[in-house]
Amino acid sequence: MVSLGQLVADIAHEINNLIGAIYANMPPLEEYIDDVKSTVDVAESCLDEVGTKTLNEYKEQIDYAFVIDDLSKLLESQKQAADRIRNIVLSLRNFSRLDQGDVKTVLLEEGIDSTLQMLLHKFKHRIVIEKDYSLNEMVECYAGELNQVFMNILANAIQAITDTGTIIITTAKVNENAIITIADTGTGMPDEIKEKIFDPFFTTKDVGEGTGLGLSISYGIIEKHQGTLTVESNQSKENHGTRFIIAIPLKITPA
Ligand SMILES: Nc1ncnc2c1ncn2[C@@H]1O[C@H](COP(=O)(O)OP(=O)(O)O)[C@@H](O)[C@H]1O
Ligand SMILES: [Mg+2]
Repeated sequence: MVSLGQLVADIAHEINNLIGAIYANMPPLEEYIDDVKSTVDVAESCLDEVGTKTLNEYKEQIDYAFVIDDLSKLLESQKQAADRIRNIVLSLRNFSRLDQGDVKTVLLEEGIDSTLQMLLHKFKHRIVIEKDYSLNEMVECYAGELNQVFMNILANAIQAITDTGTIIITTAKVNENAIITIADTGTGMPDEIKEKIFDPFFTTKDVGEGTGLGLSISYGIIEKHQGTLTVESNQSKENHGTRFIIAIPLKITPA
């Protein structure tokens, strides 16, 4: 995991540099396009009748009016795409800021939000996220590893909602503990599965979809924080879904 975090950080840095270049190129590109447009206008005003006719025919051929109109739309869409890439890179950086193994003092809500951003493409337009963050307090923890826990539990919640549904995330402070709950309106699971979900390699998913490692790794990480990871699940028709409850001390006691 140490090398994975570093790899993610390096890739994020690399992409960030390239995005920087795209941003830097944008203003001169816009300026040059304006220059070319006005050059055409000036040339046009100097033409005699024959020249104007030839020019207009050519303009029609290439649909000049459309090209000019579309140019600015293309530029705008390039900018939006660059903005989105920058957001993804920011999330990757937050996620890998871990410097694995190190104890950090962080807002857990930031880690959850970065994780959601990274998973966005898997649930956008399909799942509604409801948040009730009331902890909003710095927590001393292995931040990078906790992000992995959020990632594993949220990814499972997304997979458990086959069509549309809701994921409800709450944070709170109870007796010097941070309590995070992640609930989904997915399929839920029967008791005989619930008993096994923290076992390494236990999975009900097809090869390629699941390794059965997410929850056992998460369990280990929460144990390392001297906290608890518990689950409730319901398969009744009216009220199906699963809730994971993470409780960790606000301050870690290093092993
Ligand atoms: N939110 C959830 N809803 C329903 N089942 C779940 C949920 N989270 C975990 N499970 C069950 O626990 C199993 C183990 O989860 P995990 O350790 O993350 O492995 P994987 O996701 O690779 O199968 C899953 O295969 C699934 O059967
Ligand atoms: Mg999983």
